[in-house]
Amino acid sequence: MSDFSSSSSPKIIAIANQKGGVGKTTTSINLAAALVKNGCRVLVVDLDPQGNASTGLGIDPEKRNYTTYDLVLGDVDLHDVIQTTDFEGLWISPATVDLSSADIEMVSNEKRSYLLHDALRQPAIDDFHFDFILIDCPPSLSLLTVNAMVAADSVLVPLQSEFFALEGLSQLMLTVREVRQTANSKLRIEGVVLTMYDQRNNLSRQVEQDARDNLGELVFQTVIPRNVRISEAPSFALPVLDYDPTSKGSQAYQALALEVLAKKGR
Ligand SMILES: Nc1ncnc2c1ncn2[C@@H]1O[C@H](COP(=O)(O)OP(=O)(O)OP(=O)(O)O)[C@@H](O)[C@H]1O
Ligand SMILES: [Mg+2]
Repeated sequence: MSDFSSSSSPKIIAIANQKGGVGKTTTSINLAAALVKNGCRVLVVDLDPQGNASTGLGIDPEKRNYTTYDLVLGDVDLHDVIQTTDFEGLWISPATVDLSSADIEMVSNEKRSYLLHDALRQPAIDDFHFDFILIDCPPSLSLLTVNAMVAADSVLVPLQSEFFALEGLSQLMLTVREVRQTANSKLRIEGVVLTMYDQRNNLSRQVEQDARDNLGELVFQTVIPRNVRISEAPSFALPVLDYDPTSKGSQAYQALALEVLAKKGR
């Protein structure tokens, strides 16, 4: 196993798309697992009240005493919020439905856009020696997602290989630009990754062509195929890399991780 881990501060990637069901959580879990397989120490921040990343990584709802809600709004120790998982090298800040009221509670805070940023820059974060922090965003351009973009070094956008996929992308890019102008001038686009890609389907190929024509280098070379093993894995509380390591889905997320690692090294 190669070891890409380093002692510098973690790279923070917000995994965002306001469209629902495009593969944000699947990408958060499996990219995290693939980075771990490359020797990285990775934190997944579940920033979605649905808590799908927490469930997908096997965190029992009863064991979510402190959650990302406390991370952004509470005054709690990072060590209380960040939990180990069954996967060595992988940690999680879990979420519950509590997070759905966070948006409203954050509005009255004058640091409302910086709450996650500040939380992830507490000195105690150094104790974990993370190489990457992946933030699984909710399907909206809400204050939670803005917090993720303000906290992040980059935004990774999963794009479902379906009709209308590119619609909405301009709105997302507009939000990125706004965040860049107001709160986080260093924010980059990590890349756009095509998900649920079906090679036999003309539409998938058309969406890919459109994306590559319009976005060029921003589109990852790796495409994530539609793969039943990927969709089965969360019900076993496993990343697909552990559920079926040789599946096409596992291979694709491993290839994506290598692209992400190559960019980090640059
Ligand atoms: N490559 C894939 N192949 C097959 N099924 C997939 C793939 N990627 C995601 N899915 C399935 O599609 C559904 C939506 O994926 P996921 O939950 O990751 O999307 P999301 O963008 O996080 O959704 P939400 O916007 O609700 O948070 C899930 O049931 C997931 O298992
Ligand atoms: Mg999700």
